[in-house]
Amino acid sequence: MNLILMGLPGAGKGTQADQIVAKFGMPHISTGDMFRAAIKNGTALGKQAKSFMDKGDLVPDEVTIGIVRERLSQDDCKAGFLLDGFPRTVSQAEALDAIMTKEKSQIDAVLYIDVNAEHLLARLTGRRVCANCGASYHVTYNPPKKEGVCDRCGGQLTQRPDDREETVHERLEVNIKQQKPLVTFYKGKNVLKKINGDQPIDRVFEEVSRVLGAIAQ
Ligand code: AP5
Ligand code: MG
Ligand code: ZN
Repeated sequence: MNLILMGLPGAGKGTQADQIVAKFGMPHISTGDMFRAAIKNGTALGKQAKSFMDKGDLVPDEVTIGIVRERLSQDDCKAGFLLDGFPRTVSQAEALDAIMTKEKSQIDAVLYIDVNAEHLLARLTGRRVCANCGASYHVTYNPPKKEGVCDRCGGQLTQRPDDREETVHERLEVNIKQQKPLVTFYKGKNVLKKINGDQPIDRVFEEVSRVLGAIAQ
């Protein structure tokens, strides 16, 4: 299956992606994770991306499309993939369409995790991520067993720089503006599957699983 996970910052894309990948086994392609890895490694891409991410803005389309095109051309994507946070603009969606057409393939479903925007601020400011393995937690909604320590690897939990309150507002605003035309775009292609993201994490995954189970048949 070729899948897209779409939703505003904090909607739960990464959280659901972890569970989808554990169940279905396809590669998880998160443009945000790719940019953060590039920043950590001090590459030219990382330097470029950081200036936009720190402000809560989108990285320019040509840069983002380029890294996704490269990633999708790798062998492990041939049997299916899960895109998380890409596309985020209509021109990214059109570029992805062109890539898929060239590969004689298609997007099977766009899982649109719909969350009331008012809930997102609390999700983002309360998120903590493991500095070592990247696992994601929430101080209230998904706390680790021991405060500040990753359940999975014992690493230290930190806050993402763009989860600070001063950046979060701009990030939400930018993404809300981009999301509407993208929803229209994929509705028009009959692949949009709306998921109610205003439920506990496990309930959201039950809904995701039902949708994917129907597609996989
Ligand atoms: P990216 O890393 O993709 O950030 P984002 O879109 O802002 O989304 P998040 O990762 O913040 O949220 P999420 O939906 O994954 O939520 P999560 O599961 O972690 O992108 C970062 C930046 O990179 C962008 O701002 C941009 O600059 C750049 N970028 C990336 N892609 C780009 C593109 N295509 N084009 C241009 N620029 C791009 O959950 C959040 C928190 O809520 C966690 O603490 C979690 O535990 C909790 N939670 C999750 N689900 C629930 C639930 N159901 N109930 C309660 N709590 C929940
Ligand atoms: Mg994420
Ligand atoms: Zn960890």
